[in-house]
Amino acid sequence: MNTTVLIALPKGRLYDKATELLARAGITINGSSESSRKLMFRDSSEKYGFVQLKPIDIPIYVESGSIDAGIVGSDVIRELESDVYEPVDLAIGRCRMVVAAPVRADLSHIQSLRVATKYPRTTERHFTRQRRHVHIVKLDGSVEIAPQLGLSDAIVDLVETGKTLQENGMRIVEEVALISAKLIVNRTAMKRKAADLQQLITKLDTVVYENP
Ligand code: PRP
Repeated sequence: MNTTVLIALPKGRLYDKATELLARAGITINGSSESSRKLMFRDSSEKYGFVQLKPIDIPIYVESGSIDAGIVGSDVIRELESDVYEPVDLAIGRCRMVVAAPVRADLSHIQSLRVATKYPRTTERHFTRQRRHVHIVKLDGSVEIAPQLGLSDAIVDLVETGKTLQENGMRIVEEVALISAKLIVNRTAMKRKAADLQQLITKLDTVVYENP
């Protein structure tokens, strides 16, 4: 694929917001749709190539340099502790990462809290800072069901509207982090393709900060 800059786009709930933001920055992707099975696209100027990936894989590709840049949530970047540039906070996909528990549960007396989460490393760091010992249960989704089924005492997960927590009889115990989507860039690509990547950063910066 003979393009200047290869960019990873996240499949899932961020996808539409990411492509809308790119369109506002004047970058329209040819033939792309999340339902399509095709994984690689170009923009109409053919200056950029796009690859659709699961969010959790994006920092891995970008850190390795297989892909120059990507759009992904800060939850995933933190979890993977990825060594990449984060030049633009895109101000989309805003939500909170929280510790949550069943509404009536009292966690204060539990010696070794069992915490279900998709984010084991972030969870470990959070409770280590509190000097609290926890047993982490790694899950891949629908984490809110774990306490009801006796798998865990609490969860660490993302909250956007709060609907999922509410409908599953849970409450927020404390906040772990504020989350939003970022543009991430490979460190070597940032030097090798400096002009092209700087142009991309400026386009996105302009959209985010001048037309919020
Ligand atoms: C996310 C997150 C929560 C839910 C929060 O899950 O993990 O479950 O959204 O959103 P709300 O506060 O607006 O209800 P997602 O839909 O991505 O699916 P998952 O449970 O498979 O991770």
